[in-house]
Order: sequence, then structure tokens, then C-alpha cells
Amino acid sequence: MSDAKFITLEGMEGAGKTTCLEFIRTYFSQRETPLLITREPGGTPFAEEIRSILLSPRDEPVSDGVELLLMFAARAQHLEQKILPALQAGQWVLSDRFTDATYAYQGGGRGIDLAEIEHLERLVQKGLQPDLTLYLDVPIDVGLARARGRGELDRFEQQEVDFFERTRDVYLQRAKEHASRFVVIDANQPLADVYEAISLALDAFVTA
Ligand code: TMP
Repeated sequence: MSDAKFITLEGMEGAGKTTCLEFIRTYFSQRETPLLITREPGGTPFAEEIRSILLSPRDEPVSDGVELLLMFAARAQHLEQKILPALQAGQWVLSDRFTDATYAYQGGGRGIDLAEIEHLERLVQKGLQPDLTLYLDVPIDVGLARARGRGELDRFEQQEVDFFERTRDVYLQRAKEHASRFVVIDANQPLADVYEAISLALDAFVTA
């Protein structure tokens, strides 16, 4: 494997991931470091199809286990077809969400045993972990108000507040447990300050 780095961006609904992603894109292009930006669930045509299955609101109940397996199915495809080839070719990769989201949403939100998630993680990732994870943190009410102001809600955005409280708790817990790769960014402050915090985290990472 080359020394290309794998960065992930995580955050609650309405934390401002999309805006921050553009900031990070600019940060790397100014430094002339090619960065492949991708997302989960999705990132390849096949995995994007799984994404739309997962996100579409539907009347038929979807079991938590099926949701979990589909997340990892999409991830396996994404890793094999896009992330690993890029890293092996020396290209840095930024993924808008990755497995921390599974721990947070399926583990925290849905209540799936974290050990089951860990088992699938080992199977699919074979030890691969992000080198850096930027987690944009906002209080649930702030994030949901922003997300719900955007219009139609996907299957996740339709969840109750409790679901997001549990999701956020797991993100914060993981940030503590994996402190060497996690940086928690307070996304409930003026955008300029959020950008500043991201810049500092990236500066420290790229010069390390
Ligand atoms: P977003 O990243 O565009 O906000 O939408 C993706 C949705 O999918 C979001 O609500 C979080 C959810 N998700 C999971 O539940 N588990 C996962 O493993 C991933 C990657 C995303």
C-alpha cells in the first residue's frame, strides 16, 4: 500500500457536511494534493443503487439487520471498486461517511449490537481504518431544524429525535475511543470558525 491517506467526514443530519466537503476540496486543491471525494452509502453506480434503496421512504418495514447488511454490501463494493484502487495508486481519498456512521446509526440509532457491526467490519474491511475522521457535531435540535428545512425527508431523516440522540451518543463515544484518528469539530458556531477548525485539523494531519 502506498502512503496515501484515507480521510472520512462524519456528522449528524444538518451538521453542514456538504458545505464543509467543498471547503476540504478547496483546501487540497490549493495544496495540489489530488483528492478523490466519494460518499457512503454509494460511491460506485452499483453502491449508489443500494443507497437509493436504503434512503427511499417506503411503507414496507425494513428490518434493522437487512439495513445493516445493505450498508456493508454497498461498502464492500465501494472499497473494492473505488477506495482501495485509489489508495493503492497513491491517491488520497475523502469519504463523506464511512463505518463510524454504521456504528452510530445502525448501532446507536437502531440498537444493533456493536459486536455484530464489528464482525462485519472485519469481514469487509480486513483491517482498513480511516487515517483521519472529522466529525461535525451539532446539537440534535439544531441539526434537525436545518435538515428538515431542506424539504422532503429520506428514510433516516424521518426518524424520531431519540434515534438521533442515540446516534450522536455513539459518534461521541467513538470519538473518545478512537481519539488518535478522530477530530470533533463544533459545527454549531459561525461557518468561518468551523472552517478554521477544519483547517487546523488538516494542517496538523498533513504535516504529521
Ligand atoms: P447523507 O450522508 O447524505 O446525510 O445520507 C446518508 C444517510 O445514510 C444518513 O442519514 C446516514 C445514513 N447512514 C447509515 O445509517 N449508516 C451508514 O453506514 C452510512 C454510511 C449512512
